[in-house]
Amino acid sequence: MSTIDIENTLGITFCERLPLAFTHGMGTQVWDEAGKAYLDFTSGWGVTCLGHSHPAVVAAIAAQAARLMQSPNAGFSYSPERAALLQQLQAVLPKGLTNTYFCNSGAEANDAALKLARKVTGKHKVVSTQGSFHGRSLNTLLVSRGTDNTSRYLPQLADISFVPHGDTAALAAALDPETAAVIVEPVQGEGGVRIPPLDWLGEVQALCRQQGALLIIDEIQTGFCRTGKFFALEHSPTPIQPDFMTMAKGIAGGFPFAAFAVNEAVNARIQKDDHGGTYCGNPLGCALSNTVIGYLREHDIASKVQLSGSFLLQALQALQRQLPQLIKQVRGLGLICAIEFHQPALARQLTLRCADEGLLVVPTRNGIIRLLPDLLVSRQDMETALATLQRVLQQTE
Ligand SMILES: Cc1ncc(COP(=O)(O)O)c(C=O)c1O
Repeated sequence: MSTIDIENTLGITFCERLPLAFTHGMGTQVWDEAGKAYLDFTSGWGVTCLGHSHPAVVAAIAAQAARLMQSPNAGFSYSPERAALLQQLQAVLPKGLTNTYFCNSGAEANDAALKLARKVTGKHKVVSTQGSFHGRSLNTLLVSRGTDNTSRYLPQLADISFVPHGDTAALAAALDPETAAVIVEPVQGEGGVRIPPLDWLGEVQALCRQQGALLIIDEIQTGFCRTGKFFALEHSPTPIQPDFMTMAKGIAGGFPFAAFAVNEAVNARIQKDDHGGTYCGNPLGCALSNTVIGYLREHDIASKVQLSGSFLLQALQALQRQLPQLIKQVRGLGLICAIEFHQPALARQLTLRCADEGLLVVPTRNGIIRLLPDLLVSRQDMETALATLQRVLQQTE
């Protein structure tokens, strides 16, 4: 039986899959079982930020795996790798975030932030945004409002309301002194790369302060230089000092790892046994994350992403001008870009056609394709990907 047959028979399939099985990768390229090469403009959902099999990542994982992967009584004991990562992270975190806890996935980080926000404030109301995605655990699903998420798990457990992303007046109307927290993505990723007005986060922050609600910023998809700043909230002209910030994906270059950071006031109200977990910053994840963050800082990858991102966006805008009957809009900030089609069904069809032509893109809700290449992607690979996109789109036309 083939890999695909075995998985279809013995696995649990929650989504429609692409008929592809990958075996290895190097930089922006990956190869399937038949040896066919592809350009990976997905980074595995925005995770492999330094590309596939980056020598620094491979060396860090091998060295740490040979030393210690999981500490005895992990959460009860201390770890030099975790201490080193905490110090390095402190140099890049937004001002005011003083303490960090490590976990394993984005949903877990958001879940913990929501849980602790309830505990710290003694309130349970949460305001989130329409089109948002914060994870697939029950709590994070309930604060997500895309097309496919929440409806099958009703009724909601808590008092959650949704306002349009980027709409300050709607948020002002939804917030009251009973609100525990507001959770927002600086740029909605799964929602289709929705970029709010520049000072919206500043207005969200001001409203939260007025009403005594905690501000949870979800940087899971946008963090670690993806948008051309270390964190996307740095694009705001008003300095943003969230109460919680959640991180995952690019944080460890491909290894399942995540974190949430809090400010001093929240940290002061966190008590023993409020949270925990088996892995909670295991040495392997910490060593890798430390290497990845060190690389991003030393090589000023944020600046590189700004240049690559503006090249990619300009090329996509030119493509839209060529094919306005197919492409409704293109959007981008750094290396998170979207192409929105007039006909929603085109997104999946084009994803398959691009894969046939050796280009992997991310199909997204509502007729949108996202481009999320690794942050080191070369100009040549971007030109090849754009030429493939153009060819496929012209054939579709
Ligand atoms: C903004 C955002 N938050 C949370 C998540 C959930 O992360 P994970 O899949 O690691 O649980 C995602 C995943 O795509 C995301 O984009």
